[in-house]
Amino acid sequence: MAPTTSNPFAEITFKLKDRYKWLKTTTIFASLFCLSILLSCNSSTDPESPEEEVIDPVDDPVESVGAALNYRNHCGGCHGQNMSSFVEREWTYGNSSEEVVQSITNGYTDNGMPAYGATFSEQEIQELTDYILTEIEGKTLAMLEEENPDLSGLISSDDLSFRLETLTDEIPGVPWGLEQLPNGDILVTERGGRLFLVQNNGVLVEVTNLPDIVSEGQGGLLDVIIHPDFENNSLVYLSYSRANPNNGSQLATAVARGILSGNSLSQVEIIFTALPYVDSGAHFGSRLVFDNNGYLYVSVGDRGRRDTYPQALDNAIGKIHRIHDDGQIPTDNPFYNTSGAVNSIFTYGTRNPQGMSIHPETGAVWEGEHGPQGGDEINLLEAGDNNGWPVISYGINYDGTTFTDLTELDGMEQPVHYWTPSIAPCGMTFVSGDFYGNWRNDLFVGSLKFEYLHRLKMNGNEVVGHEELLDGIGRVRDAQMGRDGYLYLVVEGPGRLIRLVPEQ
Ligand code: HEC
Repeated sequence: MAPTTSNPFAEITFKLKDRYKWLKTTTIFASLFCLSILLSCNSSTDPESPEEEVIDPVDDPVESVGAALNYRNHCGGCHGQNMSSFVEREWTYGNSSEEVVQSITNGYTDNGMPAYGATFSEQEIQELTDYILTEIEGKTLAMLEEENPDLSGLISSDDLSFRLETLTDEIPGVPWGLEQLPNGDILVTERGGRLFLVQNNGVLVEVTNLPDIVSEGQGGLLDVIIHPDFENNSLVYLSYSRANPNNGSQLATAVARGILSGNSLSQVEIIFTALPYVDSGAHFGSRLVFDNNGYLYVSVGDRGRRDTYPQALDNAIGKIHRIHDDGQIPTDNPFYNTSGAVNSIFTYGTRNPQGMSIHPETGAVWEGEHGPQGGDEINLLEAGDNNGWPVISYGINYDGTTFTDLTELDGMEQPVHYWTPSIAPCGMTFVSGDFYGNWRNDLFVGSLKFEYLHRLKMNGNEVVGHEELLDGIGRVRDAQMGRDGYLYLVVEGPGRLIRLVPEQ
């Protein structure tokens, strides 16, 4: 299938914060080329020209302009454009100027924090540090919430008007996955390692007796899903990062299940571990979906070891797995009889898949994954597919260098859609049911980087249009259809559970 990409020149509005509203940018494309291009694209250029950044004349010093743009282009995608990940942070490596400079220069690549020592000069790193520390001074998450755009009224999209209903804005930490129970209550994971039940009245109840979860880097408690026959067996499935029982610094993406009774899980058992354990806190994936035949799919990221694992079938990393509800391996899996292969593998060559959804009509498994810098992908998965990472990619390294010149190769699948530059796609869902009119069967993908909901308008398996909804809402971690027919989101900064209610 021919890949499509959203218009890279589409206008986006830069909403760092009020003070920087003037830093309206007309393209994210040009912004990748950073300061040099920015400074040459000054106010003498045509403000409508899509290729150029426009900086309104203001009396802020040039270095804060450069730092603000560097932050936006290089950091905001992971740390929040409004710096939500730094506000009220419990700093791991310290928040003195020297310590922050160290963090930025050397990174913590094993935990998903790139090193920028080769990307920026010492002065740029110092300016970036000053900029961050100044911006977050005295800020609270509650203040960030007030800075969020007002989305309380009627919102018009191309085909539908709707309102947002916030069920709770009290989810602590980073909400990551959500799943509605048949009685209407909603399970929400918090990456730090807690599972909450959000009751119909908005009250948050913590669910206890979870497996041993390690919250480090991008890991922690990740997705949650219930068994298709939950009404009879009360089984809840969790994906999370698990420590090697013999070496606590090594982690793996794992899946556990347990019986939910009241506010507690019982008979908790680990049914899947994506081996080997790796000394890294990066790229765990991971989403869980059941298909219409009751098979459970588990998406697993490359654990930051792109050259070692995703293309080899002898390990479970950088793969989508297909298992039975109890962890047993279906004998009709594509590599079940391949000698030396991990037989749970359904597809391979995957980077960091944080989105997965079953197509409401075809029943096929679709996956969304983060590219590096550029090259985020949506893939339609078929048994045995090689999705190409890292041999083919539309992305480049975080420091601007390339790792492959290839975007296509025989024997490797093309994405249905890719984004360059990245939007950092997280949870995603097809809209199904009767509530949403023309949204039906379209794919909705949360963007961590630009803090909106991306609608891929679909015609069958083809992307025929795009719409950006809820601009500025916050980092959208998950989007899921509820059993009540509504579309739900969990969003960061502060942690909110939100329902989209179409206007009758
Ligand atoms: C791809 C995602 C990603 C990008 C891009 C990124 N970071 Fe990070 N950053 C992380 C993660 C994950 C951590 C946590 C690492 C850990 O806990 O070991 C982190 C940690 C940090 C820390 C240390 C925080 C602490 O608790 O001590 C600083 C400072 C930081 N990042 C600054 C930046 C800056 C500045 C940029 C942009 C130049 C940036 N980061 C870009 C993912 C990212």
